[in-house]
Amino acid sequence: MRPQITVLDAGGQYCHLIARKVRDLGVYAEVAPSETPASELAGRKGVIISGGPSSVYDPGSPTIDPRLLHAGVPVLGICYGQQLMAHILGGRVEKGERGEYGFSRLDLRRTDSLFRGDILFKGIEGRQQVWMSHRDAVQAPPEGFHVLGSTETCTVAAMASPERGLYAVQFHPEVAHTPCGAQILKNFVFGACGCVQDWDPAGQVAIVENQIREAAQNRNVFFFVSGGVDSTVAYTLCLRALGPERVHGTYVDTGLMRQGETDFVRASFAALGARAFEVEDAAGQFLGALAGAVNPEEKRHIIGEEFVRVQQRILESENFLNGRWILGQGTIYPDTIESGGTAKADLIKTHHNRVAGIQRLIDEGRIVEPLSSFYKDEVRTIGRQLNLAPALLDRHPFPGPGLAIRCLCATSEARVEKLGDGWLLPVHSVGVQGDSRTYRAVLAIDDFPDSPEETSSLINKNERINRVVVQAWTAGKLADLRTVPGFLTAERLERLRRADAVVRRLTHASGFDRAVWQFPVVLIPLGTSDLPDSVVLRPIDSVDGMTASAVRMPPELLAEIVREVSAVPGVAGVFYDLTNKPPGTIEWE
Ligand code: XMP
Repeated sequence: MRPQITVLDAGGQYCHLIARKVRDLGVYAEVAPSETPASELAGRKGVIISGGPSSVYDPGSPTIDPRLLHAGVPVLGICYGQQLMAHILGGRVEKGERGEYGFSRLDLRRTDSLFRGDILFKGIEGRQQVWMSHRDAVQAPPEGFHVLGSTETCTVAAMASPERGLYAVQFHPEVAHTPCGAQILKNFVFGACGCVQDWDPAGQVAIVENQIREAAQNRNVFFFVSGGVDSTVAYTLCLRALGPERVHGTYVDTGLMRQGETDFVRASFAALGARAFEVEDAAGQFLGALAGAVNPEEKRHIIGEEFVRVQQRILESENFLNGRWILGQGTIYPDTIESGGTAKADLIKTHHNRVAGIQRLIDEGRIVEPLSSFYKDEVRTIGRQLNLAPALLDRHPFPGPGLAIRCLCATSEARVEKLGDGWLLPVHSVGVQGDSRTYRAVLAIDDFPDSPEETSSLINKNERINRVVVQAWTAGKLADLRTVPGFLTAERLERLRRADAVVRRLTHASGFDRAVWQFPVVLIPLGTSDLPDSVVLRPIDSVDGMTASAVRMPPELLAEIVREVSAVPGVAGVFYDLTNKPPGTIEWE
């Protein structure tokens, strides 16, 4: 399908969000590299230049084909996109020292002569809350541009040259923190570009099924399924397109899954009508390889390597490498674009894709990826259209390495230490600051702070920590806890599975699971010789996992969770993680 709108990726993490928001308006949009030649964009109704972390003055910073700005196609520049547009057309961009991050008030200017420029702000009146994240800013717009709005610190917060169809804003209309943003995008897409509604993912089912039949021809398809939304929907589409005899699914049980997961996946696939479905029990192999592993990346590496071995074994033993088979994968749109925000989620996939057999199939073009043009929420829409159970479609994301990265390990004893008003826990977790990864200790405080910002300021004040937790319950005094040497043993994994199952049951019964994007439950080796571990609750909200905020749960629910988790054998404490991402990551490892 040819996109009406192309979003040029200037390196911003919001690039996919922009394309998603345009699709939400019912208009098909795709993402392309910022330098895409104008000739390749001929036929588009409009182009959006995304934000990005660079300065137009940085050597090698993303740019666009300047002819695009004279091609008569409406262009909207967002954030860096505005600066780039101004820079190319002879406006003045000033390098910022401190920058502006967070909420601002946008004051719109209106004059009669700006009637066409007002297309962008049609239906939007007065002062508006907008969300900013930038250092540099446009000081003087290029010739022929009108300033449409300003904020206290940013004189050119929006500008336009309506005669040429050029529009730009310094703030981010694509994020929820800019309430009028959806209207601005709508005004651009329909008002300035004249797009028509052509996109409804649910309506794509028949088209995708045809594509699958074409790709498969007379060959069969096999999948390594994970039980996650993407691979299940992709599998179901193949099942419908080709019939159950021609689609094979194998689920690898790594022994690192949550309680009841293998049974759940087996039952779900049976309900889908799958006939050729197998579970490969590889728990012993994975746990054996992981014995003694402590470092998070080492765990990921080992798991990746074992996956390669299991996959290769299955490919060979089932003759899947002969010409009668092609590979099905649940790859979704953001995963297909290299320049798009690459989450750590890709790490494990790189390992999987390295399997020689799989690489060979990909090289030979023997692959079908039915969801490669869809976003996650569109995959869910398709899943609903296919009548898949909500229990399957509304699952929280679960990391490929499974519980291995939620079960922290320790090789030696270390004591808790008093630090200011809190306690320094000698347990290290991963964090992220700017583009760099941190691996630091955790601060435990006694009570929930009045405002969420307090945890960030505690972290900013202390270089030894990257995470703040509240002590929800401890069996004895927190001061008496210490790290207890412990590895990825069946016993500790079972402890984590039980605590995690309690949290899942209670959050589901109360509906809290629908209020969060993900809710990792983490086991940390902090306790006493009788009760060697503690449990951390990590409910977060997020759009795409790139940034996240900690979510507070109702006190009654927390009390219930603490009551049941503290009764799990071997548990010495329950903590509540209040760290946003950044500076903490969602997972602890
Ligand atoms: P972080 O911890 O980086 O997590 O803030 C962001 C999102 O990615 C998931 N995650 C992973 N998914 N393999 C995966 O498939 C991994 O190695 C991995 N590490 C983190 C995490 O659950 C969250 O949704």
